[in-house]
Amino acid sequence: MENLEIKLLDKTATPPYDLLTLADPSEEAVAYYLDRGYCYVGYLGQTAIGEYVLLPTRPFTIELVNLAVDEAYQNKGYGKKLIAHAIGIAKEKGFHVLEVGTGNAGIGQLALYQKCGFTITSVDIDFFRKHYSEPIYENGIECRHMVRLTMDL
Ligand SMILES: CC(C)(COP(=O)(O)OP(=O)(O)OC[C@H]1O[C@@H](n2cnc3c(N)ncnc32)[C@H](O)[C@@H]1OP(=O)(O)O)[C@@H](O)C(=O)NCCC(=O)NCCS
Repeated sequence: MENLEIKLLDKTATPPYDLLTLADPSEEAVAYYLDRGYCYVGYLGQTAIGEYVLLPTRPFTIELVNLAVDEAYQNKGYGKKLIAHAIGIAKEKGFHVLEVGTGNAGIGQLALYQKCGFTITSVDIDFFRKHYSEPIYENGIECRHMVRLTMDL
């Protein structure tokens, strides 16, 4: 695996929109994350191949949102590297709890987050049916519920 260099996105730099919308197609949500969160971008040489955003939500709690790795670079361990980096940054900033959410149909994401040390703490029933106009399918399963996972830092 090539060395991944992870850097905080400069507020004046152009955000890597292709990666940001891979994780969440809603431009409105992406704009909200960029405005209120810390976006970290992973580079292989000059190429941005992944990113994530850390979004402070409540006192002592920060959420990992919008994690994405370019399709051409998936399943090579870069997602895990970005998560490990996010955990380090959240600790460094003094947060006590790191949260992440994913749909019930996101089998790979659920595996990845649990492998990285998150544990399921709640399920927001019918979150996607309530908030999205079209049904979402992943792995042949309807994505209905938001599964929330947590890690004590
Ligand atoms: C989710 C995402 C960021 C993962 O990035 P990645 O670089 O492919 O992830 P990694 O290669 O670091 O790790 C994937 C891990 O999940 C595991 N995994 C994936 N699917 C799995 C499955 N069905 N069962 C068991 N383990 C699975 C892999 O085995 C691997 O773990 P391992 O290293 O122990 O083998 C990437 O697929 C992506 O960008 N997806 C589109 C956007 C998205 O869904 N973002 C998340 C929003 S919640």
